[in-house]
Amino acid sequence: MSVPLLLAIDTSCDETSVAVTRGLDILSNVVSSQVRFHKKYGGVVPFLAQRLHSERINAIVDQALVQAGISAADIEGVAVTYGPGLAPALQVGLEKAKELAAAWKVPLYAVDHMAGHIASAWPRAKDNLSLPALVVLISGGHTELVVMQAFGSFQIVGRTLDDALGEAYDKVAVMLGLGYPGGKLVAQLAATGNPARFPLPIPMRQSGDCNLSYSGLKTAVRYLIRDLEEQSGPLDAQAVADVAASFEQSAQAALETKVQAALKRYPNIKSLLVAGGVAANAAVRKRLRRVAKEARVDFIGFPRSLKLCGDNAAMIGFAAYLGMLSGQRPVLDKAELDRVPYLSLEDWDIYRST
Ligand code: KG4
Ligand code: ZN
Repeated sequence: MSVPLLLAIDTSCDETSVAVTRGLDILSNVVSSQVRFHKKYGGVVPFLAQRLHSERINAIVDQALVQAGISAADIEGVAVTYGPGLAPALQVGLEKAKELAAAWKVPLYAVDHMAGHIASAWPRAKDNLSLPALVVLISGGHTELVVMQAFGSFQIVGRTLDDALGEAYDKVAVMLGLGYPGGKLVAQLAATGNPARFPLPIPMRQSGDCNLSYSGLKTAVRYLIRDLEEQSGPLDAQAVADVAASFEQSAQAALETKVQAALKRYPNIKSLLVAGGVAANAAVRKRLRRVAKEARVDFIGFPRSLKLCGDNAAMIGFAAYLGMLSGQRPVLDKAELDRVPYLSLEDWDIYRST
């Protein structure tokens, strides 16, 4: 199979992103963040996201082509995220992808956003990944442990019952007055804090399954901050760092426990892959490397750059390519393709023929 040059689009949340990829190589990967517009609302406002995506998408497509140094006529396929994500936001990318695929007379590939995150951690050297793999997906919207027999054959064996890990980081950031999205800021402070000063519970430790929960921990942090403020007024910088460190310690210990449980439950797992926005976190990387080593899992993969951890369209191009290798066919009836805001990895039918 010759490896096609793809234009990929992701508008699932608050990043308008367009990339040009060939296989697992990136020719361009433009990511335009809307964060400063959503900041004042403390979270992503779906219809504002839609408007901003619509205003920017044409310019970002042009930019991706220019940066890749190619013209539209070179593109051999269009890949697009059709779920999961915010419905009005997904709509913009999907409509643009349909329009471009029709205008350029090239196939259209419908990609699951979370499969994109998984593809972002795929090793570039072929055959380097021994399967089955356990994938740890940690983002702002999802926290899932996935057993992957092959790309496209996904079984979710554990998930958060409430908040995602990135979402918990963001909420703690707001509680500590660090702003939004504050996952990265909490992580930076945590690295300078003392996690032993305010011990917090490790959620779901005894649950006996591979599921997680972060809303109880979030509430524990809220009460801790309230109690500290009642005792001695606003938190000083050291106390803020220590709360951040305690939260990070508990949140990651919970994840570690469940990754260990999954590796025990599925002893034929050969590799560990970690992807999603929180995969950018240095402490979680260190922790999961150790877990992999202890379990003698022979490969641990992270996205090759921090930019590939967060939302971006290159990963959607990668997923379309890996899907092709697994037999994915392009969408037959382009007009019929609709967004699926709650799409589950298990339902991403890579052989879909609609
Ligand atoms: O994958 P992503 O870009 O978007 C979703 O699909 O959700 O993930 C974004 C999430 C946010 O919650 C952000 O705060 C978190 O990833 N995040 C981090 C770090 N960098 C980004 N959380 C902890 N530590 C970090 N270094
Ligand atoms: Zn994402």
